[in-house]
Amino acid sequence: MNETTKIDRDDRCPGISYTDMLEADTRRVPDYLFEESLAPMSTDPLSVEPYISEEFARLEREKMWPNVWLFAAREDEMPDAGDTVVFDINDKSFLLVRQKDGAVRAFYNVCLHRARKLRTKAGNTSQLRCPFHGFTWKNDGSLKEIPCEWDFKHLEGKDMSLPEVRVNLWQGFVMITENNSLPEFTDWLGPVADHYHRYDMQDRFTAMWVSKRIPANWKATAEAFMEAWHSVTTHPQLLPFLGDANTRYDHFGDFFNRAITPSGTLSPHITGKDQQYILDKMNEFSGGSDAETNRRFSASGDDIVLDPNDPFHARKVLADANRKGFTEQYGLDYSDKSDSEMLDNFTYNIFPNFSPWIGYIPTLLYRWLPGDTPDWCTMEIRVLMPKPKDGERPRAVEKLEIPDDEPFAWANDVMGEALAKVFDQDMANLPHVQTGMKASSNGLMELGAYQDSRVRHFQQTLMKFINGELPG
Ligand code: FES
Ligand SMILES: [Fe+2]
Repeated sequence: MNETTKIDRDDRCPGISYTDMLEADTRRVPDYLFEESLAPMSTDPLSVEPYISEEFARLEREKMWPNVWLFAAREDEMPDAGDTVVFDINDKSFLLVRQKDGAVRAFYNVCLHRARKLRTKAGNTSQLRCPFHGFTWKNDGSLKEIPCEWDFKHLEGKDMSLPEVRVNLWQGFVMITENNSLPEFTDWLGPVADHYHRYDMQDRFTAMWVSKRIPANWKATAEAFMEAWHSVTTHPQLLPFLGDANTRYDHFGDFFNRAITPSGTLSPHITGKDQQYILDKMNEFSGGSDAETNRRFSASGDDIVLDPNDPFHARKVLADANRKGFTEQYGLDYSDKSDSEMLDNFTYNIFPNFSPWIGYIPTLLYRWLPGDTPDWCTMEIRVLMPKPKDGERPRAVEKLEIPDDEPFAWANDVMGEALAKVFDQDMANLPHVQTGMKASSNGLMELGAYQDSRVRHFQQTLMKFINGELPG
């Protein structure tokens, strides 16, 4: 059977499926991209309660947050011995310290004297000295000095090392957990941890990093990035080159789900347009001029003539353009890398609040941090880039905090106008989701069976913590 004549499934968007696109790829695609995995789930409505209730937020703090692996930092934020990062979440604060041997230790960021936070921001240090009265620890957490020691004779012989939490370094991500019984991070996450191996995530660096307080619950905000089907109403400018409605959704185990949204393909919502339209609009979106479309995307420099009978021709052209462009930029060889991995949007989510994409393009990374009420959160967006050819991995850029009363467009200089616009479109919904949940007549939400399935999978895992079935 030809890949373009597949029989439509009545539980999926009609037309080309993501698997059809993988089968038409010009290179070998890794098996894990073909793998479809849907968790069993009901179609019952979801309650708004977890998003708006103080009591539910308290249960999350008690039962969930201390019992998961959390993304605390990128290693490129702290490459040198003595580098520190402060990771605050809920009412907890962790002080990450790079050791002389390259390991990272994570301490509760609290002085053992009268509990001042030891540090409030990142930086390099040769010791951990409390700014209040001067209690001092070495960078390995062992006690170095107590001022006016004559007044602390009762502490002699007592272990005054800084309490620690577990750290796993994985693909350049510093993961921490307070739970000493959890499996190591990659065992906890499961086989999907291996999906990251191909993309040199360890060698990437944080090339863009913004954060913004959002007036919506952390889960509502995260869930706004778990499905692509809001694009037709929220991001209409993306439809000419984004497979919004033929996005694939998968769930693996309790702690991972993904959306794969194809690029370089017409949205199934658009009819009567050809492959040239995809290239023209992609060119326009990325700031090119009308006249140069095909020359710009031609990897060989020759004129491109698109085959009207090949529904994947624009994808192939764009993948080749990326292979050529990235080779020039990063000095790496992409000649055997699949079209899919050169183009598509792999929105991978690791429970509960961490979304590091995969793929060869500069990858996005999201993190959502809960606010001190259920009604707000902080969203961070990063771009991880391969290190420049023949160079050291650069240090992470500083985080740019977008003021509460400014849009993402305020950060156009670092985000790029087109990307900032997409996030501003998402933010135009979120405050009204939070207030809408409170205004609901019955407190219930009716989800799509497939396209909203990641939201339901995420909620199912969360409820396992709240109900005491996890961490198990
Ligand atoms: S609170 Fe830290 S030295 Fe007193
Ligand atoms: Fe969106």
